[in-house]
Amino acid sequence: MNPQANAPSPVTAATPRRAATLGTLIEMHDVALTYGTGPTAVVAIHGATCQVATGARLAITGPSGSGKSTLLHLMAGLERPTTGSVTWPALGEDPLGRPGLVGVVFQGPSLIPTLDVAENVALPLVLTGTHARVAHELAMDALDTLEIDELASKLPDELSGGQAQRVAIARAMATRPVLILADEPTGQLDRATGEHVIDVLLEAANMLGAAVVISTHDPAVSDRLTTQWRIRDGVLSTTDPSTTHDRGVTR
Ligand SMILES: Nc1ncnc2c1ncn2[C@@H]1O[C@H](COP(=O)(O)OP(=O)(O)OP(=O)(O)O)[C@@H](O)[C@H]1O
Ligand SMILES: [Mg+2]
Repeated sequence: MNPQANAPSPVTAATPRRAATLGTLIEMHDVALTYGTGPTAVVAIHGATCQVATGARLAITGPSGSGKSTLLHLMAGLERPTTGSVTWPALGEDPLGRPGLVGVVFQGPSLIPTLDVAENVALPLVLTGTHARVAHELAMDALDTLEIDELASKLPDELSGGQAQRVAIARAMATRPVLILADEPTGQLDRATGEHVIDVLLEAANMLGAAVVISTHDPAVSDRLTTQWRIRDGVLSTTDPSTTHDRGVTR
């Protein structure tokens, strides 16, 4: 147990007030996304309309190939819709290009093998212009918060699946985002490790005052979240968008 884990930090102190004033984080209107063209084109998302609000605890569930990753990539601004619009009313243009707004936990392994854990976690900060020394401090803060600071100098190859996933979460939270998008964060993990990773993710989001969107095909994961949306063959079924507001229930 890290003795500093309970000490107040800028992460715990500052960000909930910041997030509480933000309003609607993601607004999608009639979004479709087609991969490729001609006879091999795949329509991955059909006419999705939804809103994600500040403080959301949202699960997106659906079988393999239903469009979960595509939807999360659209929400992150990593994919552009073929038709329709995705906007981030509270975050402005290109939210991924600026630190402190959106943190993404990718499906499957995503750490850079030649960088150690601290360097991996610092990378999004460095890439968005944070001074290397400050980026390292923020990375160590995030590792500390997730109680994995002792892994800082290890290479990704030296980590277990659960440890690697926690590092990926630390990387997503190092920029202190107001929105965390996690794509099947427990997909490769056993039940107990997966539960722990969800604990960590929700605790991190609570500390940051961040909204969380998690894609999963596991009911044990989606049941931990306040709101569940389903996607099937690219068609998204949402509940009332207003229910994505934080109702103070996180597990
Ligand atoms: N880069 C791509 N090029 C072409 N087709 C793609 C691409 N990415 C995804 N697809 C297709 O789009 C559809 C949706 O894929 P997506 O990865 O969003 O599903 P998913 O629900 O995340 O699946 P899984 O649970 O297996 O991760 C699938 O038919 C998939 O084959
Ligand atoms: Mg996927």
